[in-house]
Amino acid sequence: MKCVAIKGAKEFEIKDIEAPKADGKKVIIDIKKTGICGSDIHYWVSGEPKGLVMGHEFAGVVVDPGDRLDLKVGDRVTALPISPCGKCEACINGNVQFCQETWTYAVGLSLDNPGGLTSRIAVRSDMVLKVPDNMQDEEVAMVEPTAVGLHAAHLGRIAVGDDVLVIGGGIIGLVSATFAKMEGASFVALTETNPARGEKSVKLKAADAWYNALDEKTVPTLMEKTHGGFDVVIECVGNAAAVNSALSLVKPGGIVVLVGVSLEPIAIYSALAVTKELVVQGAIAYDVNEFKSCINLISEKKIDVKKFVDDVVPLHGVQASYERLTSGTDSAVKILVDPNKE
Ligand SMILES: NC(=O)c1ccc[n+]([C@@H]2O[C@H](COP(=O)([O-])OP(=O)(O)OC[C@H]3O[C@@H](n4cnc5c(N)ncnc54)[C@H](O)[C@@H]3O)[C@@H](O)[C@H]2O)c1
Ligand SMILES: [Zn+2]
Ligand SMILES: [Zn+2]
Repeated sequence: MKCVAIKGAKEFEIKDIEAPKADGKKVIIDIKKTGICGSDIHYWVSGEPKGLVMGHEFAGVVVDPGDRLDLKVGDRVTALPISPCGKCEACINGNVQFCQETWTYAVGLSLDNPGGLTSRIAVRSDMVLKVPDNMQDEEVAMVEPTAVGLHAAHLGRIAVGDDVLVIGGGIIGLVSATFAKMEGASFVALTETNPARGEKSVKLKAADAWYNALDEKTVPTLMEKTHGGFDVVIECVGNAAAVNSALSLVKPGGIVVLVGVSLEPIAIYSALAVTKELVVQGAIAYDVNEFKSCINLISEKKIDVKKFVDDVVPLHGVQASYERLTSGTDSAVKILVDPNKE
């Protein structure tokens, strides 16, 4: 079967790999839709590891239920892509996202476990979740990034009436902003360097207002508007400029949630965190309950994530989609891949 694999820096290749076979344990899933994630972009940019088949956000159909007696051929499913050991302290306490093994064998993020940029995958059976019939494949593929936003909003400990700033209007920023509103924020602002994405965040009602991060008036304007800073800032970019603007724009004693990832060390003004006695809170992935909550929230139409999907492309459209998502000017934030599309 055809797959899209990393070949080099910013370069994919389409090649043949062997389809996974039923082993009585893993669930074999035919992929219907797979999302391209901002984290995948870091791997694509670096070109490592070569041969990686990404795609950790997916909707599919069971072709072999493995050891899951409650599943049958044809069931519509998604899965947590992570691979927690189940035995360590973090796993026992329900914090599977901290488990040392969680990312080592993750689907679409490790060489041994190809993700959804192909037509058929094998997934650890205890990570597979059935989805309600009323959910479309596009919505199912959006569960994983939605859960990242829910986790970030939870860790922001947002109170009713809070002013919340989201930095970065990629999909993680858009879902974080949406949840900030749902958790009671009275004003949700978003900063972006890409005006097309900034405008989109307001048009799609994720944020109340957007501000250009490259405009030097943005920081003073927002400080004045919030009378001295935001209660909570959710940083969804991962570079020094974004983290430093988070530290600048949060009020004394406020909370900065760091969701954005940098693979390199970055220089930050730690004195801002010291002098304002900030709570700087990291956020990685989600726990199992948050993932399940997102399935329910989407299925019950409490949150609309389909509006964030810009395009659905075939495997040969993946390279161009990555280029589009990293152009810095295009409005697209979420592109899904359908491996069955010609
Ligand atoms: N912690 C986690 O569990 C987790 C999960 C998924 C993604 N991530 C990370 O979160 C980040 C966002 O993911 P995404 O999928 O939305 O990525 P994305 O690349 O689509 O979005 C990032 C956005 O930030 C904007 N930006 C760049 N510099 C900025 C600045 N100084 N100020 C404001 N905006 C700026 C870009 O224009 C872009 O729209 C990535 O670093 C990704 O790796 C973390
Ligand atoms: Zn993701
Ligand atoms: Zn563990």
